[in-house]
Amino acid sequence: MTNPLEDIERVKDEALAEIKSSADDQLESVKVKYLGRKGTLTSLLKSLGGLPSDQRATVGKAANEARVQVELALKSRMGTGSAGTKTKEGFDPTLPGRIQFPGTRHPISYTIQRLTGIFERMGFVVADGPDVETDYYNFEALNFPPDHPARDMQDTFFISGDLLLRTHTSPVQIRSFEKRKPPVKVIAPGRSYRSEAINARAYCLFHQIEGFYVDTDVTFGDLKGVLTAFAKAYFGPDVRLRFRPSFFPFTEPSTEVDIRCYLCNGKGCSLCKYEGWLEVLGAGMIDPNVFESVGYDPDIYSGYAFGMGVERLAMLRYKIDDIRLLFENDIRFLRQFQF
Ligand code: PHE
Repeated sequence: MTNPLEDIERVKDEALAEIKSSADDQLESVKVKYLGRKGTLTSLLKSLGGLPSDQRATVGKAANEARVQVELALKSRMGTGSAGTKTKEGFDPTLPGRIQFPGTRHPISYTIQRLTGIFERMGFVVADGPDVETDYYNFEALNFPPDHPARDMQDTFFISGDLLLRTHTSPVQIRSFEKRKPPVKVIAPGRSYRSEAINARAYCLFHQIEGFYVDTDVTFGDLKGVLTAFAKAYFGPDVRLRFRPSFFPFTEPSTEVDIRCYLCNGKGCSLCKYEGWLEVLGAGMIDPNVFESVGYDPDIYSGYAFGMGVERLAMLRYKIDDIRLLFENDIRFLRQFQF
């Protein structure tokens, strides 16, 4: 009987010599001859099972090493990877495909669609207004007199003369009231701009959703009901709300609404700055002065309005810790959201 180690060595040398001397178009058949299902080297490897067990380990190791050497020699002649099956046109069907990532909605678009949908199901209709506004719609008609300190709360990008980038979506209230007669029940998503120092929590551009309802008997209770229903739909049934007194020139009384911190459940943590609560929106009963500026009789009509920050709500919902991520368009970030 021949020595199996010698057999392996011989077949290997033969194969390596053949790989060296073959023309390109013969390499595939050389590969089959040695490494194919019935190839010489393959058969040799298969026959090892019949060896006495004390030889099996050393011979097996030598045989595997021989196979690897032959494979490597073939690979380096046939080009990289599993190439070598190139068609005449130079197309290699064995190369991995180029993965196409299907586009998905941006988290901001998705959040706006979700929020708008929640309010549409409660009977609100969608409206919008221009990003470039006049002082009248952004401030004056909303009961911010010229030089009123409340204007300082909203650092404004002025364009020229009377024009500015709207600092909130509240001007859509005025535009809608001018066009419609009560009952008016509107939801208005859109961009807002403020000249803020950019950091993890603030950006010069952001989105808001404005909602308002004017009719003959609208009460603060209606406002609480609608906001509670919204918060449950958006954050889940366990959400807890807190209404805090606040001030906006165009609402009286005014409130800011917090949700109980989802991270610490109200105990206090770094996310909620140890408050246990996170602010999500501003709201209130529409000030009679606003009604007067659009010709609604404040003795007949009452209404509420609220405004919420879309980025804020998206960040809370999807645990995003830096608002800038929402504007940088880094595909590695965006790809995480497969909405
Ligand atoms: N426009 C206010 C803001 O941006 C929010 C708000 C809207 C408050 C509607 C009350 C009613 O701060």
